[in-house]
Amino acid sequence: MNLFFFLKPLSSLMILSYIILFFLLVRNTSCDVDPNYVACPPKTCANNNQSISYPFYIEGTQEPFCGNPGFAISCGPNGFPILNLSNTHYIIHQIFYENQTLRVSNAAFSVSRSNTTNSKGCLPVPLTHNLTLPSTPEFDIAPNQSNMRLFYGCESLLPWPEEHRVGCSNETSSVLAFYKEDKNISLVSKNCRGEVVDTIVEDGIIEGGVEEALRKGLLLTWKAGNCSDCHSSGGRCGFDSIMYTFRCFCTDRVHSAKCDPDNGPG
Ligand SMILES: *[C@@H]1O[C@H](CO)[C@@H](O)[C@H](O)[C@H]1NC(C)=O
Ligand SMILES: *[C@@H]1O[C@H](CO)[C@@H](O)[C@H](O)[C@H]1NC(C)=O
Ligand SMILES: *[C@@H]1O[C@H](CO)[C@@H](O)[C@H](O)[C@H]1NC(C)=O
Ligand SMILES: *[C@@H]1O[C@H](CO)[C@@H](O)[C@H](O)[C@H]1NC(C)=O
Ligand SMILES: *[C@@H]1O[C@H](CO)[C@@H](O)[C@H](O)[C@H]1NC(C)=O
Ligand SMILES: *[C@@H]1O[C@H](CO)[C@@H](O)[C@H](O)[C@H]1NC(C)=O
Ligand SMILES: *[C@@H]1O[C@H](CO)[C@@H](O)[C@H](O)[C@H]1NC(C)=O
Ligand SMILES: *[C@@H]1O[C@H](CO)[C@@H](O)[C@H](O)[C@H]1NC(C)=O
Ligand SMILES: *[C@@H]1O[C@H](CO)[C@@H](O)[C@H](O)[C@H]1NC(C)=O
Repeated sequence: MNLFFFLKPLSSLMILSYIILFFLLVRNTSCDVDPNYVACPPKTCANNNQSISYPFYIEGTQEPFCGNPGFAISCGPNGFPILNLSNTHYIIHQIFYENQTLRVSNAAFSVSRSNTTNSKGCLPVPLTHNLTLPSTPEFDIAPNQSNMRLFYGCESLLPWPEEHRVGCSNETSSVLAFYKEDKNISLVSKNCRGEVVDTIVEDGIIEGGVEEALRKGLLLTWKAGNCSDCHSSGGRCGFDSIMYTFRCFCTDRVHSAKCDPDNGPG
């Protein structure tokens, strides 16, 4: 009898502590946020506010599985994110994640206006090859953009039409740029004796003239998994390099498309 009174509270205490231990364990495991999710928050380059996330990743700062192969970005000396396309450096001005578009310009065209002594903010134009990007497996040139042609060595066309001038340093003062459909382009091409370089610019930037158009650059669209469902369900997009496919990293685990309990890892 004495023993019974002693044991009963003891055993219920033990049961209670087992229950507590069980809940602690369950709670603990569900609190373990998926490491892929933890690894892939959006980042920025220093001194720049463009958020970088899937399909892009900053090489050395974000894990490659936070983005797609072919979308590595580096951070340029002025903070701009830089994309390497066909061995040419492009500055990323803005990324529109909602429609998978980004605006880039050739790094050669993007010297900041304040950094030049000339008030016009002339662009350096040391280009030696065409900048008509071929379509890559990752990027296409967005629709509605114009071809522009740069002519070097146009000394004989003095006085230079101001709205077509690009360079104004000693070496580049006679570089002229024309939209390809310009009526005067054949006359120009006959009178300029230097290189001819083709590039692409976004439509509808007429106010600042050709220099502004070159500086603003062009729009590219990208081909990668569509992140919008994953993102709006609270996940972070990523890439499984073994299965070579898109993944949605959620706080609980990796899903195939979005954070949804019925949505298996595929
Ligand atoms: C980033 O900075 C630019 C100019 O500095 C500004 O126009 C833009 O609104 C900023 N974007 C965000 C998301 O803060
Ligand atoms: C980036 O472009 C440069 C040429 O500007 C090239 O030498 C380099 O290999 C490229 N890097 C990558 C990672 O593709
Ligand atoms: C991505 O998916 C969303 C929702 O399913 C859709 O509205 C959007 O148009 C898609 N984006 C692209 C670029 O296909
Ligand atoms: C994507 O959206 C941006 C901003 O709204 C727009 O400027 C751009 O033209 C769009 N891209 C395409 C391919 O429509
Ligand atoms: C432009 O800025 C960079 C660094 O910000 C500096 O090193 C360079 O000398 C500047 N160039 C001119 C022409 O002021
Ligand atoms: C650029 O392409 C055009 C043809 O589209 C060609 O005539 C020209 O020589 C090319 N320029 C350079 C620098 O390769
Ligand atoms: C391209 O231009 C046409 C005509 O101006 C317009 O209807 C179409 O929406 C534009 N497409 C894009 C992607 O901006
Ligand atoms: C251009 O620069 C070179 C040396 O850098 C100089 O000899 C030449 O006189 C300059 N030409 C003009 C027009 O300023
Ligand atoms: C072509 O050049 C002539 C003479 O320089 C100029 O008056 C005319 O406006 C130019 N036409 C175009 C379409 O730029």
